[in-house]
Amino acid sequence: MNIAVIGTQWGDEGKGKIVDLLTPNVSIVARYQGGHNAGHTVRVGSDQFVLHLLPSGILRRGVRCVIGNGVVVDPVALFSEIETLGKQGVEVGDRLLISDRAHLILPYHRELEELAEKRRGDRKIGTTARGIGPAYEDKAGRRGVRVGDLANAVEGGDLASIIQENVAARNRALKVGDKDWRTVYQDICATWHRLERWVGDVSVSLMQAFESGETVLFEGAQGTMLDIDHGSYPFVSSSSATAGGICTGLGIGPRRVGTVLGIAKAYITRVGEGPLPTELHGETGEQLREAGQEYGASTGRPRRCGWYDAVAARYAVRVNGLDALAVTKLDVLDGLEEIPLCTAYRYGDSVLTEFPSRGQSLSDCQPVYERLPGWSRPTAGVRRYDDLPLEAKAYLDRLAEVTGVPIALISTGSDRADTILIRDGLIDKWQSGRPRSPES
Ligand code: GDP
Ligand code: IMO
Ligand code: MG
Repeated sequence: MNIAVIGTQWGDEGKGKIVDLLTPNVSIVARYQGGHNAGHTVRVGSDQFVLHLLPSGILRRGVRCVIGNGVVVDPVALFSEIETLGKQGVEVGDRLLISDRAHLILPYHRELEELAEKRRGDRKIGTTARGIGPAYEDKAGRRGVRVGDLANAVEGGDLASIIQENVAARNRALKVGDKDWRTVYQDICATWHRLERWVGDVSVSLMQAFESGETVLFEGAQGTMLDIDHGSYPFVSSSSATAGGICTGLGIGPRRVGTVLGIAKAYITRVGEGPLPTELHGETGEQLREAGQEYGASTGRPRRCGWYDAVAARYAVRVNGLDALAVTKLDVLDGLEEIPLCTAYRYGDSVLTEFPSRGQSLSDCQPVYERLPGWSRPTAGVRRYDDLPLEAKAYLDRLAEVTGVPIALISTGSDRADTILIRDGLIDKWQSGRPRSPES
């Protein structure tokens, strides 16, 4: 029984922590989309790890990690992440498999992204500046470079011509500092000797793993609202972050996906531009930001904060086929007198209960709130459901009710141990059916 961990909001829901919690019961953790725009934080005691391109499963000895064809790979960022982990005592060794069909992020992608953001002016997306968008544009434009292309690269071959054409296009677009395509070509070819040991056919390897009864965890990056098709377009990332992306991003069939767990903060955050209907602009927003330490794990940018949005959450339930929710950062709401919960949007004269498809309409939506009482006894570090204050339980009950799926797990702190597993909930049942890996 495989499991998918998917962000239900605008990213940074705490996916890294939850993936890490579940890895003792899996053999493989697979990323299927995005790139090093992701920042997944895992705290283990006093150590903190931030995973960008590598699946969070890399932190558990014995767990194998997969980077699927749907991911865009910047080899320089990958090597640097592997080195940083090495210094923190985590060895990647032979536990990594990268799809030969994954597309590469090359230096001109970052430059083109900078130009595109500048040109958009007030309409900029507020991207992570990692070259993600332009790499996916080249993929869709059928001029991308795939990891496997490096294997048989020869001067004068197909790869050389593609890079020559792409660099010429870059020079025309940027109009500054003519880049020599040969340098780009040679640099990228030079990465092959380091990459080669990890490159293979992910679809074949996953099929073998399924056939031998191994369990796979699919680790989503970003979140539903940043999905290229289903997110708040155009203020989205460029990949398929929703559960549908798992099949295309790894080369597996839909029946393999298994259980789908949605991750949601007990409130909401967003980094970059674009509408956020429940955004708090004043003091309370700052209070949430400080209490939740809401600063980007990749870029350090302050995250915009707001109240839990059940309209967006119900939408995430539908497009991902969520079985249950893991609610994180409940402790950040500690001490508030009252907690608003957005159950619908007011749009002109109408009340919307379904998430609108156009970003434009979303920015004109006003939240309709239900107000629940806060709690005075802290939930920070609480590890048993029964130890939660009554008001916190009532808030969670109502959150689940308006979202439409049960809560399977509650997180009350960044540490692995600060977690409440709901008895007989989805994760409890899933875990009890799985052997625990001896090395966890
Ligand atoms: P991800 O991108 O979804 O993996 O999330 P991030 O790592 O970008 O952001 C989540 C942040 O919240 C990280 O710093 C986590 O260590 C932290 N975190 C996760 N769960 C909790 C929680 O329940 N309470 C608190 N206070 N922090 C948490
Ligand atoms: P994790 O996996 C939060 C946002 C950027 C920007 C938009 C497009 O840590 O949840 P991009 O560089 O992808 O083209 O930027 O998407 N964004 C994220 N926000 N968490 C992330 O990842 C994000 N990855 C991209 O801030 O608004
Ligand atoms: Mg993050």
